Amino acid sequence: MTVHIGAQPGQIAETVLMPGDPYRARWAAETFLEGAELVNEVRGMLGFTGTWRGHRVTIHGSGMGMPSLSIYANELIRDFGAKTLIRIGSCGGMQEKVKIRDVILAMTASTMSTPSSGIFRELNYAPCADYDLLRAAHDVARTKGVGVHAGGIYSSDVFYDERPDLNEQMTRHGILGVEMEAAELYTLAARYGARALAVLTVSDHLITHEALPAEDRERSFGDMVEIALEAAFA
Ligand code: HPA
Repeated sequence: MTVHIGAQPGQIAETVLMPGDPYRARWAAETFLEGAELVNEVRGMLGFTGTWRGHRVTIHGSGMGMPSLSIYANELIRDFGAKTLIRIGSCGGMQEKVKIRDVILAMTASTMSTPSSGIFRELNYAPCADYDLLRAAHDVARTKGVGVHAGGIYSSDVFYDERPDLNEQMTRHGILGVEMEAAELYTLAARYGARALAVLTVSDHLITHEALPAEDRERSFGDMVEIALEAAFA
């Protein structure tokens, strides 16, 4: 047990999928894992461990934003020995070519976040995905016929953003989408020698202002879970 995770030693698998929403963790565990058991519910943050095609997998919520993800990812890696962590979440599209429901694989994640800037100060550290996971996820997405893009994303500290000028600069510099967690996940994975990837469905669009219809959200989320699981064990 740790401060925020009530699991017993050995109850967390080496491979962990991390949706932001704890109810999504429950849905994914019930839908894709065999023998899924609840291993954490401290503060309502749900984690489940089961098997997928014979491999042990934990699906654990991260909460929203880098400070929340940082707590869970730190404890999962340092205290429970997680070695492969894949975020499955949503993002806002920032390029015309990126369509609603497409999947973005975050090759890098730019950020101004405090966990990062507190360490790196004047250095612009470049948090990046594990290449083998990224390549495998790209192959799986292509095979499934999902529209997929690999490239840089922006991990923001705010959802209600007051810096449209900054978003414009990022669009100008090829950033594909915006979310709120990947940069910290990548930085922690690098620090502790784990593998990490963020698989993101485009749920809304900063340029076209479209949004993913509610009835499509579950299917898109299911696609991400399958991409993450197949990439993890490729
Ligand atoms: N901004 C930040 N995070 C997000 C967004 C967004 O537009 N969409 C989904 N996650």
